[in-house]
Amino acid sequence: MMNGNVNLEDLIGNIETNLVGRNVRFFESVTSTNEIARKLAKEGAQDGTVVVAGTQTAGRGRYGRSWFSAPGSICMTVILRPDHDVATRVASAIGTVAACGAIELNTPLNPKIVWPNDVFVNGRKVAGVLAEASSCVLIGIGINVNVKPREFPEDIRKTATSLSEELGKKVQPSKLLGSIFMELDSLYTTIAVGETSVLEAEWKSYSATLGKAVVVSENGSSYEGRAIDVSVEEGLILETHEGARRIFPPDTSTMVRDA
Ligand code: BTN
Repeated sequence: MMNGNVNLEDLIGNIETNLVGRNVRFFESVTSTNEIARKLAKEGAQDGTVVVAGTQTAGRGRYGRSWFSAPGSICMTVILRPDHDVATRVASAIGTVAACGAIELNTPLNPKIVWPNDVFVNGRKVAGVLAEASSCVLIGIGINVNVKPREFPEDIRKTATSLSEELGKKVQPSKLLGSIFMELDSLYTTIAVGETSVLEAEWKSYSATLGKAVVVSENGSSYEGRAIDVSVEEGLILETHEGARRIFPPDTSTMVRDA
C-alpha cells in the first residue's frame, strides 16, 4: 500500500523488532491515532500494535491542546501491554527518546528534548508525544517530517519546524517510522524487565534543559534558576538563585524556557 507518506510494504518488509510494529494498522486519515488505538486496544489488539495515519483531523496534544498534523507528518500510536504498570511519565519518555533516536539515525540533525517531552531541532519544536496509561499503554508520536513552514497555522509558525525545513530536503517517512519502531521496541524490552536506567540515561543525554539556566512557569507563577536534574520519575529539579530547590513533576502543566 502506498500513501503519499508511507510505503507500508517497504516498512513492514524491513522491520526487525520483537514486538513493536509486528502488527501495523494504516489509515489514510483519522481523528486521532490515540483514539483509534484506544478503540483497537479495547477490541483486544496485541502488544506492540501500531496505528499509523497519513493525517489526523482532531490530533491531540498534552493538557487538552490540539496537535496540528499536516500531510507529510508522521502520526502514530503504539499499543503496549506490559506485565507490570508503566507510569505515563515513563511512557512519555520512551516516546520522546524513540523520536530523537530515529531523527538522529536518519538525519544529521541534533534533536533535543525540552523538558518534559517536546522534541526540538535548532530551537523549534519538531515533534510531540502524548502518552496515556490505563489498562494498557498508548504512546502517540507526531513528527513534522516534510512540512513547509507556510503549511503551519499562523500561531505556531514561529515556534514549529519540520525535518525537511531544517535539512533543506525531504526525509523518507517510512525509514523514520521504521527507526521509531526499532527504538520503541528496544526501550520497551528494557522497561519490561523493570530496567529504567537505560531510558533515564538516554532521556538525559538528549535534554536541552539539564544544567541550563531556565524559567519554569506553572499556574501563572514563574521560577528562575538552574535545572540541576531532569529525572523521568521525579521531574525537573530547579535550584533557585537563593539556593532553594523546587521539584516540578513531569505530569504537571509547566512550561520551560531558557533564562
Ligand atoms: C504535544 O506536544 O502536546 C503532544 C503532541 C502529540 C501528537 C501525536 S500525533 C499522534 C498521536 N495522536 C494524537 O492525537 N496525538 C499524538
